Amino acid sequence: MSEPDTDHPEESVLHVGGASPYDVVVGHHLADHLPGMVGDALRVALVVPDALEELVDDVVAPLVESMPERDVTVLAVPDGEEAKTAEVANACWEALGEEGFTRSDVVVTLGGGATTDLGGFVAASWLRGVRVVHVPTTLLAMVDAAVGGKTGINTEAGKNLVGAFHEPAGVLCDLSLLETLPRDELVAGLGEVVKCGFIADPEILRLVETTDPADLVPSSPVLRELVERAVQVKIDVVVADLKETGGSSGSGHPGREALNYGHTLAHAIERAEDYGIRHGEAVAVGCVFVAELAHRAAGLPAELVDRHRAAFARVGLPTSYAGASFEDLLATMRVDKKSRGATLRFVVLDDVGAPRILSGPSEEHLRAAYEAIA
Ligand code: GLY
Repeated sequence: MSEPDTDHPEESVLHVGGASPYDVVVGHHLADHLPGMVGDALRVALVVPDALEELVDDVVAPLVESMPERDVTVLAVPDGEEAKTAEVANACWEALGEEGFTRSDVVVTLGGGATTDLGGFVAASWLRGVRVVHVPTTLLAMVDAAVGGKTGINTEAGKNLVGAFHEPAGVLCDLSLLETLPRDELVAGLGEVVKCGFIADPEILRLVETTDPADLVPSSPVLRELVERAVQVKIDVVVADLKETGGSSGSGHPGREALNYGHTLAHAIERAEDYGIRHGEAVAVGCVFVAELAHRAAGLPAELVDRHRAAFARVGLPTSYAGASFEDLLATMRVDKKSRGATLRFVVLDDVGAPRILSGPSEEHLRAAYEAIA
C-alpha cells in the first residue's frame, strides 16, 4: 500500500511503477510538491477551467517562487466536457506554439476529469509528448482520470475516440481541494471508490459499510484512506495492463478492463439521459445491474448482489433506474467499445476481488437483470 511520509504524516506517496514511473501524493495542502514534480522546466502551461480561476494563484505561486525565471502561462478552458473538443485542444497547441514550449517544459492540469483528459492529450500530442502533472479537483478525477495515463477528447464520432496513453510525471490528490466540491459530486466520486472495493479491495467495502456516510467529508481520515486504496487499486491494474490489452497472467483477470466494472450499462444510461446523470451515479446502477446479471448467468451469490445494493445506497448513490427501455439500453450496449462484433462483453465478479469477462449473456438474463434494477 501507500508509504506514510514520516516528515509529513498528513501525506502518503503511492508509487506507480512501469516504463514511466511516477508518484501519486495523497493528502492535504500539497501545492508545495508541484515544483518537485515539474522539475527545472522553464515554461509551465497551466490548463484550468474558467470556473476554477480562484485556485490558479495557489498553483502558480510555488512554481514561480521555486524558480523566479520560470514562465507560467494559464490556458483557461471551458468547464466540464465542453473542454474536450478539437477546437479547445487546438487553442492550447496554438498557445504552446506562441510560448515556444519545448520538450523540457511541462503542462499542469488543475480540474476535474475533463480537464485532465484534455490537458493530458495536449501534453501527449505536443512535440509528440511533453511531461504533464495532474492536480485533480474532484474525487472522481483523483481516483480515476488522473491516474493511469488515459487522455482524450470527444469528436463527432463519439466520446474519447481520439486520445493517447500518456502517463503523468506526477499526480497530487489534494483532499483540501474537495472542500468546495458540491456534496453530490463527492458522492458521485464514491461510486468509483466502491467499484474499486468490489473488483479488488474488500477493505474499501468494510470501511464504507462501517463508517457513517455523513462522516465521509474531505477532512476525514477515512475518506483519505478510501482515496489511497482506490488509487492503489487503479495503480495495480494499470501497471499490469497499461494499454488495456488484457490480463497477461492467464489467470482470467480482465486486466485494465476490470476498471470498467458496471460501465457498460452506465455508459448506455448516461447516453440515454443525454449525460444529465453523473458518471458515478450511473456506475452505481451499472454495478448493481451487472451483479444481478452475474447472479443469473454466472452464479454470483444473492448475498453479494445485496451487498452491491447496500454499499452504493449507503453512500447515497442510486441502485435502480427508471428511464430508458431495456431495448434502447441494449441497442446502445451493443455498440459499446468493449463489445467485440455483435457479442456483448461484461466484467462480472465470481467473488469480491475476482473479476472476469462474461461474453454473450443471453437476452433473457440481460432482461431479467434490467428488470431487477427497474
Ligand atoms: N477509467 C478507466 C481506465 O482508466 O481504464
